[in-house]
Amino acid sequence: MKKQTVLVTGGTGYIGSHTAVELINVGYDVVIIDNLSNSTKDSLDGVEKITGVRPLFEQFDLCDREKVLDFFTKYNDISAIIHFAASKAVGESVDNPLLYYRNNLSSLINILEAMSKYKVPNIVFSSSCTVYGQPEQLPVTEQAPIQKAMSPYGNTKQICEEILTDTIHAISSLRAISLRYFNPVGAHPSALIGELPIGVPANLVPFITQTAIGLRQELKVFGNDYNTPDGTCVRDYIHVVDLAKAHVVAIKRLLENKNKSNYEVFNIGTGNGNTVLDVINTFEKVSGVKLNYKLVDRRPGDIEKVWADTTHANHVLGWKSQSTLDETMLSAWKWEQHYRNKK
Ligand code: WQD
Repeated sequence: MKKQTVLVTGGTGYIGSHTAVELINVGYDVVIIDNLSNSTKDSLDGVEKITGVRPLFEQFDLCDREKVLDFFTKYNDISAIIHFAASKAVGESVDNPLLYYRNNLSSLINILEAMSKYKVPNIVFSSSCTVYGQPEQLPVTEQAPIQKAMSPYGNTKQICEEILTDTIHAISSLRAISLRYFNPVGAHPSALIGELPIGVPANLVPFITQTAIGLRQELKVFGNDYNTPDGTCVRDYIHVVDLAKAHVVAIKRLLENKNKSNYEVFNIGTGNGNTVLDVINTFEKVSGVKLNYKLVDRRPGDIEKVWADTTHANHVLGWKSQSTLDETMLSAWKWEQHYRNKK
């Protein structure tokens, strides 16, 4: 039987490359579009080494409407799309909101227009727990109110979900699933692909591993006066491979017409909250490396605590995260060591 082809936009990136591996592992053909603005083709090498298959790859910017339409004339057998391509640095979005609104909204609009024109019915959208802001109730469910976004980045995710629902309302052939990620961390157990932030990492875990390997002098812990068990912020840290597998489940759901409505939303997290100091202590335990960190003032824009209610994804998708925080932090450390040692 002919394999079904899945388009992965942003597929040379962190979550995209891990998802390409899992799609290939269960028998899909994968084609990737990426503009390489925040990733390199090294991840294609990693995907090939892990799976034995090199995904097809097209390099262009999804904001270029003509190039997007041309793509679908060349690749006329796309069964479904996973749309990762977006700018995702919260701090950068505050400094450069227009780049975020143009990039994150135009790319989705171009994809949806092409889907309608070329009759591609299925899309899985990379959304985020940032749409919840600071939830009133924890763990947070998909029914929680969408609150005013804390950053232009978070606002683009909220607006993209609205673009999806409005477009689906207008075009009945379209079906979408939005996956609201919590904090993706860790790396593939092979250590052949992982998170590769360009420049100084904004996020906690790559900053931890870069400090441990000696690239960074000291980790700053932003605030220890929050109303949490040890005063530091609480997040739901989900292993990127578990997150990648959730995308495969969502794609299968659409391709097998198991979706109960044309727009579904799922929280993808572990369902557990961990403080920054939990993460640091876990890292030190599994790596044997003593981390040099300092407690400093809060980071503007941080919410105090958020973690997922994953009941909906567990029961309806039949998906549940498998990795412990120990395994997740060890995978991040193995990746950092492998990546730096091969340099
Ligand atoms: C986590 C905690 C920081 C760095 C991220 C992405 C966002 C979204 C959700 C996908 C916070 C603290 C961090 C450091 C620290 N992902 N921290 N020192 O802000 O929860 O959001 O995940 O949509 O795109 O930005 O993640 O890793 O930046 O911060 O103390 O050097 O670690 O204050 O409490 P965040 P993060």
